[in-house]
Amino acid sequence: MSNAKSSFVVAVAGATGAVGREMLKTLEARKFPVSRLVALASKRSAGHKLPWKGGEITIEELGPKSFEGVDIALFSAGASVSREYAPIAAKSGAVVIDNSSAWRMDPECPLVVPEVNMAAAQNRPKGIIANPNCSTIQMVVALKPLHDAARIKHIIVSTYQATSGKGQAAVEDLLQQSRAALEGKAVTPSVFPGQIAFNVLCDWKPGEGDYSEEEWKMVHETHKIMGDDSIGVSPTTVRVPVVNGHSESVHVQFHRPMKADEAKNLLRGAEGVVLMEEAYAPGKHPQPALTSGTDPVYVGRVRDDIAVPGAINMFIVADNLRKGAALNAVQIAERLFR
Ligand code: A2P
Repeated sequence: MSNAKSSFVVAVAGATGAVGREMLKTLEARKFPVSRLVALASKRSAGHKLPWKGGEITIEELGPKSFEGVDIALFSAGASVSREYAPIAAKSGAVVIDNSSAWRMDPECPLVVPEVNMAAAQNRPKGIIANPNCSTIQMVVALKPLHDAARIKHIIVSTYQATSGKGQAAVEDLLQQSRAALEGKAVTPSVFPGQIAFNVLCDWKPGEGDYSEEEWKMVHETHKIMGDDSIGVSPTTVRVPVVNGHSESVHVQFHRPMKADEAKNLLRGAEGVVLMEEAYAPGKHPQPALTSGTDPVYVGRVRDDIAVPGAINMFIVADNLRKGAALNAVQIAERLFR
């Protein structure tokens, strides 16, 4: 595809999903130059409509011929769909930006967060650029400036992840469970492997050893995006009964001592970051209810660690559907083609 084009045919595979809908909204809100939008989903949704630029767009069934004439294909329809169709889209000439886990660790597919490693996107032998996992994206946006200054030795991260990260059906499960619990009825999960309403849950598939797949994603993806396999990452991923917006408590150790004041100075001007200055002020810290629906990665509660001199602690919150998924994908497309 020629970068000289001024507008692009854009396909969104998984357009009806939680992330797919956000992709359409993001393309529109950021005035991405779309000459034609191809909204793709399963057979179930074919013929249905989605809002697009003040009107509606009719959803088409995803198939092998869906990508003819497409310049940019954004995928968020699950890993198996991406494994099958991303190569087809790439072969027909589209640059694929894939939000699933299918291609993230493929050495021939760059894994890109524009604020951190945009240059990697130029080398894409398969024509596929992978969009990282939502928990990893917001963490590396916040940590990159600190890593550049003092090289990170070890990260201990605990997540508080929203239900929208598991898809639209998971959000509906939370709401339905919450209604049942409030009415004193039995809570019957439909998507989660247990109760998520008024509870916290580790719901991801088991990974290697005693860690979940999600926890391993945070380890491997952090290494690949930061380009440094020596960073120790100790993750615990947890789902909380929040509709949208992931939070993370992060402890960071460096190869030289870092004070909270220095970290704040580095974060104050960092791209994509909003620093919330108060180290501790009740109610005045990054939180999903206040930040869902916005673009930045919010960093707050930046403190010197009490027990480990030279280490810092911080709390990071971002909209997992935006910066954690749709926005990151659209930002990659913007930097490649605008
Ligand atoms: P559909 O709505 O037609 O099922 P979420 O991540 O919110 O669960 O959304 C998943 C997205 O992936 C939806 O847009 C869904 O479409 C789409 N999808 C799931 N399976 C397929 C498939 N086999 N072919 C095309 N799209 C699919």
